[in-house]
Amino acid sequence: MRAVRIHQYGGIETLKLEQIDTPVINADDILIKVKASSINPVDWKIREGYLKDFIPYKLPVTLGWDVAGTVAAVGDSVTDFNVGDEVFSRPEISRNGTYADFVAVKADEVALKSAKLDFGQAAALPLAGITAWQCLVDVGQIKAGQRVLVHAGAGGVGHLAIQIAKAKGAIVIATASAKNQELLTQFGADQAVDYNQGTLLEQIEPVDLVVDTLGGEVQSQSWALLKPGGMLVSIVDQPSEDLAKEHDVKGAFVFIQPSSRILRELNTLVEKDQLMPFIEHRFPLDKIAEAHLQSQSGRTRGKIVIDVS
Ligand SMILES: NC(=O)c1ccc[n+]([C@@H]2O[C@H](COP(=O)([O-])OP(=O)(O)OC[C@H]3O[C@@H](n4cnc5c(N)ncnc54)[C@H](OP(=O)(O)O)[C@@H]3O)[C@@H](O)[C@H]2O)c1
Repeated sequence: MRAVRIHQYGGIETLKLEQIDTPVINADDILIKVKASSINPVDWKIREGYLKDFIPYKLPVTLGWDVAGTVAAVGDSVTDFNVGDEVFSRPEISRNGTYADFVAVKADEVALKSAKLDFGQAAALPLAGITAWQCLVDVGQIKAGQRVLVHAGAGGVGHLAIQIAKAKGAIVIATASAKNQELLTQFGADQAVDYNQGTLLEQIEPVDLVVDTLGGEVQSQSWALLKPGGMLVSIVDQPSEDLAKEHDVKGAFVFIQPSSRILRELNTLVEKDQLMPFIEHRFPLDKIAEAHLQSQSGRTRGKIVIDVS
């Protein structure tokens, strides 16, 4: 089968499209025939070696941790899926990924995809959607009527977070540059904020929950935007306990964990027309390097999909 692998950490020249053996599945695995994958910033962060102390890969490794496709085979102990089922997943990141014709994934990391999603849309949803859900629902404990600030609302995680927060009945404020203000409104934001027009404090009334997709200076500015008792959930930088205490709020860090439960929750929102990924770019498997450069630009709107077959 074809797979895009790296044999060493480095720039886009390390991405190699190769012929390798189809994965052998364990008893609790599903073999997915990959129709589509999608790019997440973690893909190029791993390629560059930024995460090598955190996730010690034995190279070569196939990159990519979003997938939609059909079940090609099931392990001996798998009872919930059948060959031919249309599924999607964010597989465990320590295993070989989804820039390939086939990927082996634990059955409990897979869900049937909604018929309302084509394979590209289904591949755009798992990693970013599970992350947004874990921030807002599992950790943030979002409630109807709360004011929620989503940083980088035009990005992969942000545009899904806006939609999930709206589906939960929140009032959503989202940030982006001038060119993406209209898009934030299309995703459902009640207030679109241009981060280049004055400070966030000048533009945003106090909120109950902040989803921090940017870290650094943006996280530093966000403490003062929270109501007492509120919460900042970051997916980029571990929030400071001292600053949280100083502002009488909570801070939390989320690192996405695979979850078929949350995939089914996302499906439910899709079925209710409350959630749909926005796809700005599509590339074939042999153009992964271009897709990585697009993601590294930091300017992607919604998601980048890889059409595999
Ligand atoms: N911890 C986890 O489990 C986890 C999971 C997923 C992602 N992440 C991390 O979270 C980050 C975001 O991921 P992503 O997939 O959403 O990234 P992305 O899709 O590449 O984000 C791109 C978006 O960021 C916006 N942006 C850039 N600077 C901004 C600023 N100062 N204020 C507001 N918006 C800004 C851009 O909009 P403009 O062009 O309008 O500025 C663009 O639409 C990445 O660092 C990723 O690695 C972590």
